[in-house]
Amino acid sequence: TRSGPGPPSTVLVTGGAGFIGSHACVELLDHGYELIVVDDYSHSTPEVLTRVERIAGRFVGAVYELDVRDRRSLSAVFDRHAVDAVVHFAAHKAVGASMRRPAEYYDTNVGGTTSLLGTMHEHGVHRLVFSSSCALYGEAGPGPLDESTPARPTNPYAASKWLCEQILADICRRCPECTVLSLRYFNPAGAHPSGLLGEDPRGEPDNLMPYVAQVAAGRRKLLRVFGGDWPTRDGTAVRDYLHVMDTVEAHRTALDHLVDGPGMRVFNLGVGRGSSVLDVVAAYRHAAGREVPYEIVARRPGDVAELVADASAVERAWGWRPTRDLADMCRDSWRFQQLNPQGYAGSARRPNGRR
Ligand code: WQD
Repeated sequence: TRSGPGPPSTVLVTGGAGFIGSHACVELLDHGYELIVVDDYSHSTPEVLTRVERIAGRFVGAVYELDVRDRRSLSAVFDRHAVDAVVHFAAHKAVGASMRRPAEYYDTNVGGTTSLLGTMHEHGVHRLVFSSSCALYGEAGPGPLDESTPARPTNPYAASKWLCEQILADICRRCPECTVLSLRYFNPAGAHPSGLLGEDPRGEPDNLMPYVAQVAAGRRKLLRVFGGDWPTRDGTAVRDYLHVMDTVEAHRTALDHLVDGPGMRVFNLGVGRGSSVLDVVAAYRHAAGREVPYEIVARRPGDVAELVADASAVERAWGWRPTRDLADMCRDSWRFQQLNPQGYAGSARRPNGRR
């Protein structure tokens, strides 16, 4: 089922029940796209898509529980639906975990991407928006870093994203009709303003903001700050936090620009300002009106001191720029935390009203 030359209307979203994927589903539904969602629910739950439907006020679309590495199941989805473009979120993304389980990260992140690419090409689908990461820049800081910064990944997660980009670039060089837009996220954070969607990792959060949220809520005793001796303003690591709603608006904009022509284009997504771990703690304490006790401990293996974006290229090319700041991220994250004290656990309804 070949995709027409015009802008996409039916989009397959892998990892659509995940943190960024679910917020992207809301954004695309709000803008009239028809969606097909695949997710293995390894880091999410069907309840997330039920929330997506509640926010969007319409069915999320066809939903398939599958692992993107399962070629047969994925191919059956492409047999059933005329897919115009794919947005590929499905991946594991924890720096620390990737140091402990490198083979699993390469299998899921690289194997999942090559399985998807093979299936897409079998079905004549050649347009992809790819979820990449600033982590591939490694120790390149302090920045701001633009897209020409050499990739020096310092952990298997970052290396898996860099490998995917190299595979995608080579395929685009050999396939005249292929279009790939690779979006290198800095640090997405926050939640949908309704408080119905947010970041709800399984078990102990790897990422900073969901951990801070759980400490502010009293779900966890204190935050461990990984390193107080980094070469930064206050000694704690600096990142470029980007509201998840800004992040997904950039994905919708990317879909509009698939028609710009074949080839691979890479863009940083960030706000261009760094916030240290202690900056985030202070901002969250202000947004929640709660204490956030912490202790400074040893650095986390695989971490770097600073990653801040030069995201001017995407603004020049597409006119996209983020509009929300750290205070918005903390306020929206806190609202989700308060409305969902135990995350999505509990109301496990399936999407489309199915139980
Ligand atoms: C941020 C800072 C930690 C937890 C991200 C994410 C993911 C992916 C790759 C796009 C770091 C510190 C954290 C904690 C802490 N991006 N921290 N205590 O490491 O920048 O990696 O980039 O897909 O978004 O993996 O994000 O949130 O894990 O950490 O001190 O309990 O907070 O050391 O400096 P990171 P993070």
